[in-house]
Amino acid sequence: MCGIFAYLNYNVQRERGYILQVLFNGLRRLEYRGYDSSGIAIDDSLPSPINGCSAPPPLVFRQTGNIESLVKSVYQEIEATDLNLKESLDVHAGIAHTRWATHGEPAPRNSHPQRSGPDNEFLVVHNGILTNYQVWKQMLLRHGFTFESDTDTEVIPKLAKYIFDQSNQGGQTVTFSEVVIEILRHLEGAYALIFKSKHYPNELIACKRGSPLVLGVKESAEDDGSGFFSSNKSPKELFFSSDANALVEHTKRVLVIEDDELVHIKDGCVSILKFNRNRGNNGEVLSRPASVQRALSILEMEVEQINKGSFEHYMQKEIHEQPESLTTTMRGRLIRGGSSKGKNVLLGGLKDHLMSIRRSRRFLFIGCGTSYNAALAARPILEELSGIPVTMEIASDLLDRRGPVYREDTAVFVSQSGETADTLNALEYALDNGALCVGITNAVGSAIARKTHCGVHINAGCEIGVASTKAYTSQIVAMAMLALAIGGDTISNQARRDAIIDGLFDLPNKVREVLKLDQEMKDLAEQLVAEQSLLMFGRGYNYATALEGALKVKEVALMHTEGMLAGEMKHGPLALVDENLPIVVIATRDSCFSKQQSVIQQLHARKGRLIVMCNRGDAASVCPGEATRLIEVPQVEDCLQPVINIVPLQLLAYHLTVLRGYNVDQPRNLAKSVTTE
Ligand code: F6R
Repeated sequence: MCGIFAYLNYNVQRERGYILQVLFNGLRRLEYRGYDSSGIAIDDSLPSPINGCSAPPPLVFRQTGNIESLVKSVYQEIEATDLNLKESLDVHAGIAHTRWATHGEPAPRNSHPQRSGPDNEFLVVHNGILTNYQVWKQMLLRHGFTFESDTDTEVIPKLAKYIFDQSNQGGQTVTFSEVVIEILRHLEGAYALIFKSKHYPNELIACKRGSPLVLGVKESAEDDGSGFFSSNKSPKELFFSSDANALVEHTKRVLVIEDDELVHIKDGCVSILKFNRNRGNNGEVLSRPASVQRALSILEMEVEQINKGSFEHYMQKEIHEQPESLTTTMRGRLIRGGSSKGKNVLLGGLKDHLMSIRRSRRFLFIGCGTSYNAALAARPILEELSGIPVTMEIASDLLDRRGPVYREDTAVFVSQSGETADTLNALEYALDNGALCVGITNAVGSAIARKTHCGVHINAGCEIGVASTKAYTSQIVAMAMLALAIGGDTISNQARRDAIIDGLFDLPNKVREVLKLDQEMKDLAEQLVAEQSLLMFGRGYNYATALEGALKVKEVALMHTEGMLAGEMKHGPLALVDENLPIVVIATRDSCFSKQQSVIQQLHARKGRLIVMCNRGDAASVCPGEATRLIEVPQVEDCLQPVINIVPLQLLAYHLTVLRGYNVDQPRNLAKSVTTE
């Protein structure tokens, strides 16, 4: 949902061509967040750090399409000027943006950086949505500003210019951070912003509210080990990014910027200001921004994790990574048991709240899309082991209804990115209503991870493909472990718990086995490639598998696919069945098996074109006729079977997409991390 990036080199000689490459590579890493247009701003020629005002205006390049279209157009434009790519710059600040359009069609004028006017005095890149931009737009129009874009963002650089001009009247000088803080007091909505200005050359300001933003620090001087910034003017390179994965090739020393913090880079020094947005009854500023000290943290991420390696696409790589991602989800959390100890689960992130969670009157599972489906897959085991009712909530729907949430509830927020606006808003709502809030996220330091009372990191590793795959299976496993932790160790459920824990230990191997169906799924995709529609029926643990399998096919292969509850088949969907429409029925072994057998018979009786997923050795029990196509998967404990069953459907979606000629990692109209409502 838009990616923003910035690079500042201070007392480190860098050629302009190198600076461009750093900005482009940053955008390539963030492209999964939006890919309908992009832009950058760099300096025309070396601005004087002493006499800033004489600096020429920065150069802005904007282009529709993906990052490579921008790269091509930037080099073309540069070729037509006398800008020297070999010029070595001792200090330079560049900003960049990749866009997923919200306000205004993808077009250069709606791309970022957005600007204060044609001379680029103030430039801004923005991820988020401003809810009150119309008020400021009207005010600025009254003051003679003209707007060139349809974006909400454009008011920000124009407000900067307005405040700068007002404040500098009468010989007063205003600092860059004073200008930005004054703007932020007026903005409502969500934002991560980076500012660049010709009036403050070689400075950058970044700030956020609701949207993620990370600072990366690379210093040539020895790290003193304190975890803090060096306060001197030592040579350094500094980066801002919407996502740490764009930083890891440069540095692992990062600062996760918090809401209402402003990070100002000036003369190579980094200062952090915390400010209070609220005003008094008469509009007066209640407190002055305060300077704060924050320690840097070290990223636990390797560059290899964010490369495709030998795979064609991120989605393909992430599907095949699942044996490893599941292993890391479980690492250190399962106790195998021995002579003195029973099998057990330890979830460190919950330990202070486990007793309160067990006393809850109800669990609410809240998420969107794939994360919601993962929670749905885990629901039966949570109900079984805890004996506590579980309500499922799609985050936006809970908010639309203002559904009742009580102090006695435990609300579990499931989100790969930890930044999804709907889920985050539902979290705020649950916190306001006094519920105990638990996060299940893949992003350490994300908003949901920080705002919940406790939680479980799924540790699936960086997921870059827009279609979520490995995060889904890791979420299910994390929630199965949650169910074991909440359910506690009683004599009556001992055997069941032991079987699940054994099943968890063996799960990565079983996923390795099911991945061998790759070629078979490619063959099936070849059969289905020209179809208009597909149905998927599941029930019990695998209702979620039907929903998630269908979501994968529709979002990447752009084929209309519906996941349905098999129990509902005869209440309507049966009317769709004929000899043409392909139907996937998930009929692996669990307490619903015999009901699924009868669904298969009913579909066969109506000449349904069947593709049945069953456990190995069950072909004869589920195959009503020769025309039935089988997908045979290994059998595991029933509550873990959704982890196995989704893998062939992920592979099917992947191969269908490639065969239909669509972009696997950048599905039409979508973006990862939906940070707008
Ligand atoms: C589909 C997909 C989305 C996300 C949804 C929630 O493949 O990835 O449906 O699951 O946007 O995102 P998170 O999990 O980041 O909250």
